[in-house]
Amino acid sequence: MFGLFKKKGPLPTFAPLVRDMHSHLLPLVDDGSKSVEESIEVMEAMRETGFEEICLTPHFQYPRFPNNVADLQERYAKFLADVEAGKGDRQLPRMVGCTGEYRIDDGFQGIVERNELRTYHFSDPKRGSDKGLLLIEFSLNQKRMGLEEVVFNLQMDGYDIILAHPERYPYYGSHSAVLERFKEQGVYFQSNILSLDGFYGEEAQHKAFEYLENGWVEFLGTDMHNTFYAQALRHASMNKKIIKLLENTEFENRNLVD
Ligand SMILES: [Fe+2]
Repeated sequence: MFGLFKKKGPLPTFAPLVRDMHSHLLPLVDDGSKSVEESIEVMEAMRETGFEEICLTPHFQYPRFPNNVADLQERYAKFLADVEAGKGDRQLPRMVGCTGEYRIDDGFQGIVERNELRTYHFSDPKRGSDKGLLLIEFSLNQKRMGLEEVVFNLQMDGYDIILAHPERYPYYGSHSAVLERFKEQGVYFQSNILSLDGFYGEEAQHKAFEYLENGWVEFLGTDMHNTFYAQALRHASMNKKIIKLLENTEFENRNLVD
């Protein structure tokens, strides 16, 4: 009876993804959100555009964001309570965890040695490695020597790897042999939704669609940082090409848990 008079419309654009697995909404730990209120505003846009659940992924980046897991988990617990207290009657996605986005840089080896890697797992326990899936990124301007080796060694060490926004590395072009090798090695790719809408420029947009067409991209992420990004997410949710993509492609987002 209750559902009878509910207005029915098309599902919001990103509803098929169910879950976002890349965002910087834990305030003041990286270049993301600056306050609980800002995070709430961004989350409202995420809910509106279809996300039911989100997992936070603060940067681990040396020396800019020297985060550590214990501190982040403490902040995350407080943040959950603050959001609950501050959201009022606004509809927000559920927060289902806080992992990290790990940059392969001079600080990374220390993070590995200190056992600071927080990973995702597949909800199906039969899938993936015991150590889980690690979200990594590379420098956005200059290619670091030996990246491929680091990725390979992590895999040898028992991690599954998700490479964040492969389309955003200018040193990997279209038809990149290195990216192709990563795919052959079983590295997962996560493209940014905003790349598909041209937020990071034409080159990233072009590559994002190309990698999707290659069948290389298993995950889509918002990489939300602040309200400016939230506005861009609303814009992307009205992009016809993106709407069609979401209707016709199945992504793995919903199968990940913290
Ligand atoms: Fe990010």
